[in-house]
Amino acid sequence: MVDFSLGFPAGFLWGAATAAHQVEGNNTNNNWHAWEEAGRVFRQQRSGLACDWWGGRYVEDFDRAAALGHNAHRFSIEWSRIEPERARFDGAAMDHYVRMVAALRERGMEPLITLHHFSNPLWIENDGGWTNPETIRRFERFVRTVVEELAPGVRLWCTINEPMIYATQGYLFGHFPPGRRSLRETFTVAENLLRAHARAYNAIKEIDPAAQVGLAKHQISLKPGFPALVNRRARRIVWDFFNAAFVDALQTGTLALPRRTVEVPEAAGTFDWIGLNYYYRFLIRFHLLYPQRLFLHQSRPRDGIQGPESVGEIWPEGLFEHIKWLGDRTGKPIYITESGLPDPDDAIRPLFLVRALRSVWQAINFNYPVKGYFFWTLVDNFEWSEGYDPRFRFGLFGCDPETQARTRRPSADLYGEICAANALTADMVRRYVPDHAGELFPGVDVLPEVTLPPRA
Ligand code: GAL
Repeated sequence: MVDFSLGFPAGFLWGAATAAHQVEGNNTNNNWHAWEEAGRVFRQQRSGLACDWWGGRYVEDFDRAAALGHNAHRFSIEWSRIEPERARFDGAAMDHYVRMVAALRERGMEPLITLHHFSNPLWIENDGGWTNPETIRRFERFVRTVVEELAPGVRLWCTINEPMIYATQGYLFGHFPPGRRSLRETFTVAENLLRAHARAYNAIKEIDPAAQVGLAKHQISLKPGFPALVNRRARRIVWDFFNAAFVDALQTGTLALPRRTVEVPEAAGTFDWIGLNYYYRFLIRFHLLYPQRLFLHQSRPRDGIQGPESVGEIWPEGLFEHIKWLGDRTGKPIYITESGLPDPDDAIRPLFLVRALRSVWQAINFNYPVKGYFFWTLVDNFEWSEGYDPRFRFGLFGCDPETQARTRRPSADLYGEICAANALTADMVRRYVPDHAGELFPGVDVLPEVTLPPRA
């Protein structure tokens, strides 16, 4: 029988992504802990034990990932553990991360290490955080310390996660610590993150010239609302500010922000690859009453999938749009450093995975150099301001932070089959998303009989 399979290139990296504060537990010396203590998270929740990775449960979770055929994993280093006080470095904390890298290697998994994923040590935060230019040099020192230790086992480094999300959520919308609402500070933070990235890039390359260094850039899809004329302009402004400015600065050394251009020549060319974090599509509707929302609105899905109220529409095909844009703009290899959705019942995750990976495959077939895909995330974890809000469960596995019990979702199996086969096949589509097979891949539903996957 003739059947199809969407094959991925040899050596393609398949894995999941996590971040220290979201999974480690007992992180009590950073800005997020203070934010939790101040009651700023959903229902005044605290991250608590999270997934207890600091207590060693990363071992069992890495086992789960390896058993499912993942050949890579992205995780982050918690700065406040490595340098709990200014210039005091904690060797035992470092050893923990050395063991994590070794644990991945033992399982045949490639580590991708993030050096800054939203959390700052308290001493940094209390000294002005990323508005203070001193933080740039301090970050570089932290990066050098970590890379000196971990370089033997690590090839892929991600300096900073989502600089524009960090800058806007913390300093414009006030949803993340330090909860500021200032455009001026938002710009300062973006600039300092860019300078810090450039320094970190050079430091890593100095220590290990073979290292491959990039950063994870969050991109959003934007659909202009009615009237199109006005909203196309608004879309352009948001796209340039949120999606383009930082990426262009990595190319050119010029950070072009709305009505403010900053020259950061040392940033030009400081990336070997670019990471794409992609989640949502928003409707752009210019409205004088809501300037603080940057014209962003929840868009009603037509070809997308409805997500929780507070987020945008889930439109997996946006991956193609962003891979194309990043590829054309930078010419660099691309890793999908995050892609996923909040879906506690796993009702739409299998469909999401099929659509997302069909989109990535399509981009690869247009010769865009996509090198790997990291699903967000391996196990349900502490979702920043949403805390443990039951609607915001992103994991291939569920995780109860009270009991630490893991529950395997059907998506874990689907994704595992894809990783193991290095392909998405018609047979998987038929078994995991039978109701959508014909619409996604015309003709597939009339091929062999549908058998549902066993429920975990
Ligand atoms: C990203 C962030 C992750 C995770 C994810 C899901 O912006 O990097 O840490 O929270 O969103 O919302």
